[in-house]
Amino acid sequence: MRPALKAEIDKVAEVAGYLWQKGWAERNGGNITVNVTELVDDALRAMPAISPARPIGQTLPRLADCWFYCKGTGRRMRDLARAPMANGSLIRILPAGDAYEIVADAPVTPTSELPSHLAVHDWLIATGSPYRASLHTHPIELVALTHGRPWLEKDAATRMLWSMIPETKAFCPRGLGIVPYMLPSSVELAEATLRTLADGYDVVMWEKHGVFAVDVDIMDAFDQVDVLNKAAQIYLAAKGMGFEPEGMSDAQLRELSVAFHLPK
Ligand code: 13P
Ligand code: ZN
Repeated sequence: MRPALKAEIDKVAEVAGYLWQKGWAERNGGNITVNVTELVDDALRAMPAISPARPIGQTLPRLADCWFYCKGTGRRMRDLARAPMANGSLIRILPAGDAYEIVADAPVTPTSELPSHLAVHDWLIATGSPYRASLHTHPIELVALTHGRPWLEKDAATRMLWSMIPETKAFCPRGLGIVPYMLPSSVELAEATLRTLADGYDVVMWEKHGVFAVDVDIMDAFDQVDVLNKAAQIYLAAKGMGFEPEGMSDAQLRELSVAFHLPK
């Protein structure tokens, strides 16, 4: 395996360890995919598949001949942290863009959320995005927020989270999009995720389930979720102290956007 590909998979393993340590990855909770097409060498390309071709459930022509590292379905993040190639696999999308086959190292079936992950990677390519990684995880305080109806209003949670500590807006400058509850791993959830990312968010909240984040690599995707969840923890800490946190003012948030050249 090329050192650049190994380095990318090592980053996934590092993040998987953080997800477990944070309590965001109970049992097999969460999943990660990384588009590694640019990191695959001729030796890997020449390798035969170790699984039959399996349908994706949708046709994504832009993913033809693309390669992904995927967490395995049912696999634990804490196990992936130790052994990424035994708890995830490298898959190749077939030329028609409607099926994949597993190539290495072991025949580990990709995550059940593959429809969302691959639809998003297809869209990232269509938009010319430099983003190569997508992360789904179950951050406790952010998921708890989605059990409060007012936080599901467009940008209500974003506004509150940004106002807890300046770093939140600086490092998650597009905010938190909201997707209403839908069946995990469904194509409907994949389509709603895509629409919400297309609205201009990098992190999307799946109501009463978890977040879905995209970024250039898995470490940056993790960081965006981490700053948002930290802000939710600060909010809850203040509430636990018995008062409603004041939050930064609109003027202070605007000042931050100007100073850091933020998109919103
Ligand atoms: P997988 O084990 O299939 O990746 O599923 C975990 C999960 O969080 C589903 O939403
Ligand atoms: Zn999940």
